[in-house]
Amino acid sequence: MKKIGLFYGTYTGVTGTVAEKIAQELGTEHVDLHNISEGGEQMEDYEFLIVGTSTWSIGELQEDWDAFMPKLQNMSFQGKTVALFGTGDQVGYPDTFLDGMGMLYETFQFRGAQFVGFWPTTGYDFTSPLPLFDHDHFVGLAIDEDNQSDLTDERIKQWCALIRPAFGL
Ligand SMILES: Cc1cc2nc3c(=O)[nH]c(=O)nc-3n(C[C@H](O)[C@H](O)[C@H](O)COP(=O)(O)O)c2cc1C
Repeated sequence: MKKIGLFYGTYTGVTGTVAEKIAQELGTEHVDLHNISEGGEQMEDYEFLIVGTSTWSIGELQEDWDAFMPKLQNMSFQGKTVALFGTGDQVGYPDTFLDGMGMLYETFQFRGAQFVGFWPTTGYDFTSPLPLFDHDHFVGLAIDEDNQSDLTDERIKQWCALIRPAFGL
């Protein structure tokens, strides 16, 4: 069984906690957790990737991802399967809700990644176009711990069920 590399960036810990919950839901024996602040060079070693970020400073990528961007832009994700997740605040920042996740989507897509885990926009209220795959779907799992923390665990559970087959689980 091939392991999944889960790489996340977090500032106050929210995205880190979501990353741990995803790993638990998929089975921690299947997932290697990496905080991008400690480097992401091993990303190219995995065929299966889960990638998560928060959004800060009104539409900016979490700062550790931002710092890693020059290296990311030199990597190839051809033949790799990628699932994205993002955390944000749709009430405080509806125009830039989950923009960081949208930016990672563009970066990985340009470098050849195949995506799984598009997530329905039903139940969210926001105007940002960046995290959208199509009219009805985000590019990945959308988590809003600031306003909808009661929905987080169930969203993680359902999303993990959605991505499992693509990761051979
Ligand atoms: C100053 C500030 C700016 C923020 N900007 C955005 C934003 O533009 N879009 C968004 O979705 N969330 C925004 N957020 C909310 C955070 O992304 C959210 O709380 C997230 O869960 C934090 O995750 P982290 O602790 O893993 O970094 C902002 C929060 C603060 C305090």
